[in-house]
Amino acid sequence: MRWLAIVVLLIGSGAASAADIHLYWENHCLECHGHAGAFARDRLTVEGGVLVSDRWGSGLDRFLANHHTTPATLEPIIAMLTAQVESPPLYAEHCSGCHGIAADLVRDSVERRDDVLYGRPSGRPLARFLARHGGLASDEIPVVLESLDRLVDETVRR
Ligand code: HEC
Ligand code: HEC
Repeated sequence: MRWLAIVVLLIGSGAASAADIHLYWENHCLECHGHAGAFARDRLTVEGGVLVSDRWGSGLDRFLANHHTTPATLEPIIAMLTAQVESPPLYAEHCSGCHGIAADLVRDSVERRDDVLYGRPSGRPLARFLARHGGLASDEIPVVLESLDRLVDETVRR
């Protein structure tokens, strides 16, 4: 039965690192590339739904498969970078000065119940809270909420 234990262990560790893909970035990519959002928006683009770079074109996924990723983290990393390229840097402009990186804010201060986001620890609905917190224009609020909602899926709560 030893092989079974090893298989379970391997699957377990892969899942654990993919569960908080921002933590994986922080531990395996940040050192060389800095923050993921800034790196993605600066260096990458999305063409027809595919993440590409000037250097690798649409072969970027093959490059990344052999570049500090694992089979479990490759797809979540690509999805994360793609979403960052496709969303404006509103969090960086309006929130990070006080809250640091978005993944930390979400791990510590955001929760989702029945598809609605609430602040922690207050339990206030975030949509209403952000109407008078953070200086967002009203049409920017849904965009930030969507990014935070995605981050709930991409991080593990503390
Ligand atoms: C030890 C340093 C180092 C680490 C760690 C590292 N990279 Fe890189 N990465 C590089 C270098 C060097 C290049 C090639 C030169 C460049 O494009 O900056 C590169 C290139 C890239 C590119 C292509 C950029 C382009 O313009 O084509 C992507 C995307 C990328 N890395 C993502 C990642 C991800 C995701 C991780 C973590 C899983 C990671 N890197 C970890 C050093 C690193
Ligand atoms: C000037 C500093 C500052 C800026 C800018 C700022 N925040 Fe805050 N934020 C705070 C402080 C201080 C608290 C804790 C006190 C409170 O709840 O009002 C907080 C609390 C929160 C909470 C937890 C609320 C709860 O219900 O407990 C969330 C979520 C949050 N901020 C999100 C954001 C977002 C998103 C942005 C950008 C649109 C942003 N903040 C911009 C300072 C700031």
